[in-house]
Amino acid sequence: MSESVKTDIDLNEYPHINRGLEGIVAFSSNKSSIDGQKGELIYSGYNIETLAENSSFEEVCFLLWNDRLPSQEELEEVTKKLQQHRSLPDPVKDYIRNTDKEGNPMTVLRSAVSMLEDYYEDQNGELLDNAIAIAAKMPTIVAAFDRARKDQEIIEPLTDHSMAHNFLYMLNGEHPGEQASKTMDLALILHAEHGMNASTFTCRTICSTESDMFSAVTGAIGALKGPLHGGANQEVMKMLLNFDEDPEHADPADFVKSKLERKEKVMGFGHRVYKVLDPRAVLLRQMAEDLSKETGHENLYEWSQTIVQTMHEEKDIDPNVDFYSATVYYSMGIPIDMFTCIFAMSRVAGWTGHYIEQAENNRLIRPRALYMGEKNKAWTSIEER
Ligand code: ACO
Repeated sequence: MSESVKTDIDLNEYPHINRGLEGIVAFSSNKSSIDGQKGELIYSGYNIETLAENSSFEEVCFLLWNDRLPSQEELEEVTKKLQQHRSLPDPVKDYIRNTDKEGNPMTVLRSAVSMLEDYYEDQNGELLDNAIAIAAKMPTIVAAFDRARKDQEIIEPLTDHSMAHNFLYMLNGEHPGEQASKTMDLALILHAEHGMNASTFTCRTICSTESDMFSAVTGAIGALKGPLHGGANQEVMKMLLNFDEDPEHADPADFVKSKLERKEKVMGFGHRVYKVLDPRAVLLRQMAEDLSKETGHENLYEWSQTIVQTMHEEKDIDPNVDFYSATVYYSMGIPIDMFTCIFAMSRVAGWTGHYIEQAENNRLIRPRALYMGEKNKAWTSIEER
């Protein structure tokens, strides 16, 4: 064997290496368009504001799965199927009952979705049916875990009502009011799809190996769980609640200024793609204002506005979707550690839409890495290491 050689690599000679794949276009897609300069988000042709005003989450699911709006008959059919698939197989319920009550809800969601494949009867069925089964069961898993960890009885899903209504019913054990269902429905619509984010990329990568949709969604949940992706709204809420609990952070403007002085990030601000205000934040801001006032949490909204103003004055950075969704979920009584699960319950519409799109025109996703290590090393016996 020839002598060990340290690979002599000058990274400047490899300008094509793109850490984080920022700006790399690896797919064509009909799912969504984001214009970060205009603050525009479009799902399969429809602006997010149009969908927020006119559609339901079920209709958005159909849109992302078929790239077109459903007829009345098709909407009724997909809604019915989503209602019929809500219940969980017994072993999945047993797992939820018996798992660590202190566990991270996203960990439980990821493991339970992974288990679903074992008990899915129509293994060779249409991809659309897989998507319906997964999307329908995710809210049941999330609500069941929240009840099980509080030693409360798991509530069986309703076989009617919207997904948003049914989720709040399963979580709280009582039917929500019309306004609460509508707010949850809107939150689900706003988070359903957002281009080639990390979890969607993960989902498409798993699909590209011709693995199944359950595995792809399991992987996507794992990617969303990370604090750089889906976990920011929980951090926003902890920051806001600190003003209540920790006198040291009592003034939101001072808090922001001192964070910026220390060169720390303020959670819920900035975005890799949006250079103007995220259109979802515009819609959620109104919901946050209305709900916080309705539920006696107006201080949350007031602190939020002080933070927004200070960030604007000090850094000229706008809030993102996570900033106001935190106050919205908290005002609705949703536990803080469940916020990312709600994101997942919504984003599954986009993930599964992308899975179908990838499967229809598949090519294995397989980038390369530049090897920086040594080559041709002589073997050293274990005693000599
Ligand atoms: N707080 C304070 N300063 C910020 C923030 C922030 N939240 N975001 C960006 N900046 C500043 C940076 O310090 C930097 O300033 P400088 O030029 O003076 O050094 C400048 O803005 C550019 O920042 P980058 O980190 O390079 O911007 P990037 O586009 O890479 O980051 C990101 C985007 C990761 C979202 C960032 O804004 C961030 O960490 N935000 C907080 C976490 C968060 O809210 N994430 C949720 C994003 S939305 C979603 O995933 C659903």
